[in-house]
Amino acid sequence: MRDTLHKLALAAAQKSHSPYSNFPVGVAILSADGKTYTGCNIENASYPEGWCAETTAISHMIMDGKGGTPHITEIAVLGLKADLCTPCGGCRQRLAEFGMPETKVHLCNQEGIVETVTLGDLLPKSFSL
Ligand code: THU
Repeated sequence: MRDTLHKLALAAAQKSHSPYSNFPVGVAILSADGKTYTGCNIENASYPEGWCAETTAISHMIMDGKGGTPHITEIAVLGLKADLCTPCGGCRQRLAEFGMPETKVHLCNQEGIVETVTLGDLLPKSFSL
């Protein structure tokens, strides 16, 4: 599954619309029911209107659901032109909404997974209501 998530994240990054940053990002989520969802970053000429790859992938996961709260067990994050790409602060909070502290986060480059951390490592003492 690690290899599959890397391949899916790579394919997603190749769809990125990122002409302003020239920093394509791809993400692949594995949900608790065994399904995978991908996303890329989608930028806009009005810069703040763009969004991250994690957000696109979460949107696909939610829209494929039947309501209720899906659960992320693993996620691969890949920067097409980067040695390593870590989720931004906002995306850590978005992932925390659907993940657990044990959720695996695979940090990837084009060649493969460079490092695997957990969501708890990335966002300790996360906010929740
Ligand atoms: N980006 C993501 O897609 N995910 C992250 O977690 C980090 C940043 C995107 C946003 C923007 O399109 C580009 O990377 C440069 O910041």
